[in-house]
Amino acid sequence: MPAESTAFSWIDGQRRARECAGLVRTLRPRPAESALLDLAGNDYLGLTRHPEVVAGAAEAARRWGGGATGSRLVTGTTELHTRLEQELAEFCGTESALVLSSGYAANLAAVTALAPHGSLIVSDAANHASLIDGCRLARGTTLVAPHADPESVRKALDTHEGPAVVVSDTVFSVDGDRAPLAELAAACRASGAGLLVDDAHGLGVLGDGGRGAVHAAGLAGAPDVVATVTLSKSLGSQGGAVLGPAPVIEHLVNAARTFIFDTGLAPAAAGAALAALRVLRREPERAARAREVAAALHHLLTDEGLSAVRPDAAVVSVRAPSPEQAVRWAADCRAAGLFVGCFRPPSVPDGVSRLRLTARADLGERELAEAVRVIVRTAPDGAFTAGR
Ligand SMILES: Cc1ncc(COP(=O)(O)O)c(C=O)c1O
Repeated sequence: MPAESTAFSWIDGQRRARECAGLVRTLRPRPAESALLDLAGNDYLGLTRHPEVVAGAAEAARRWGGGATGSRLVTGTTELHTRLEQELAEFCGTESALVLSSGYAANLAAVTALAPHGSLIVSDAANHASLIDGCRLARGTTLVAPHADPESVRKALDTHEGPAVVVSDTVFSVDGDRAPLAELAAACRASGAGLLVDDAHGLGVLGDGGRGAVHAAGLAGAPDVVATVTLSKSLGSQGGAVLGPAPVIEHLVNAARTFIFDTGLAPAAAGAALAALRVLRREPERAARAREVAAALHHLLTDEGLSAVRPDAAVVSVRAPSPEQAVRWAADCRAAGLFVGCFRPPSVPDGVSRLRLTARADLGERELAEAVRVIVRTAPDGAFTAGR
């Protein structure tokens, strides 16, 4: 066999291991129109197809073109990017904002730029992969703290001298639970550390009119708090942003490689996000409705005997007995017309497989009842912990 045909043959071993463990992932193209009821996407406020959001994208593409044409520091900053940054900062109550091409990139940029050589990063064990990757890429030393445990964070910070930053999701993507932000901020302040939080699941859902978890915790605008957000969930678009004090944002512009060497966010995405933000400003009740739908889903499912985590935002996590049953359960839901997410190891470090449902502000009572009916009817026996 020629040497070049064996270059990637080691991949076969990994594929076989995945097959044996029932952990093969596949891509399934989604048609533009579908009869499936969608509780898997992250369009929390039902804005991605809102006429003003679609028009915002189309207008921006017509005016500025299909792409940003370059990195933000060269040609990739349009007036639209600047406007979006101003309105995002104003809405969330922070001094400044910096838009990046994704929430993932925002997390890489923020963590790496705020954790220089010799610094300590204290990172929650249940953080999103993009924060974890930011820690891996940063020059500072990472200490993983037990999930939602401010006392452990405080102890970790006590052991360190020099710059330190505590890194946490505000709402954890797997179980939808909220981080103890006030306690984390207090622990940071006791030792002069910074607090960097990922509000991907809080923006548009939590806080006054959807201003996010940081705003809800009274930490918006604080000089020691930095937040990242994605534009791809509540704002129905694509992209991410870092929000914080002006000197921190200025530092990122100069030091965050993920920002400096990445092409600016496509104008269409910036236009869509800006339009969505303006809809949310005008219709703040969308945030409360997403929370209401999540609470109703949780209530209806647990009433049927399923085990679901009480949602703090719009993510509802339902326990499955095993990875295989979780996959089959999600497939059975799909066959019955309901699209749900499925989390299983290695995406979930605690080894617990789940169905992941996202509440949407635009779901009506009839759709909610139908979703619950399908989930309950297709549930494996072992999923009913509380008896039926
Ligand atoms: C908590 C959290 N942070 C960051 C991201 C990444 O954001 P984006 O999809 O915009 O890259 C996601 C999900 O997609 C997320 O759930």
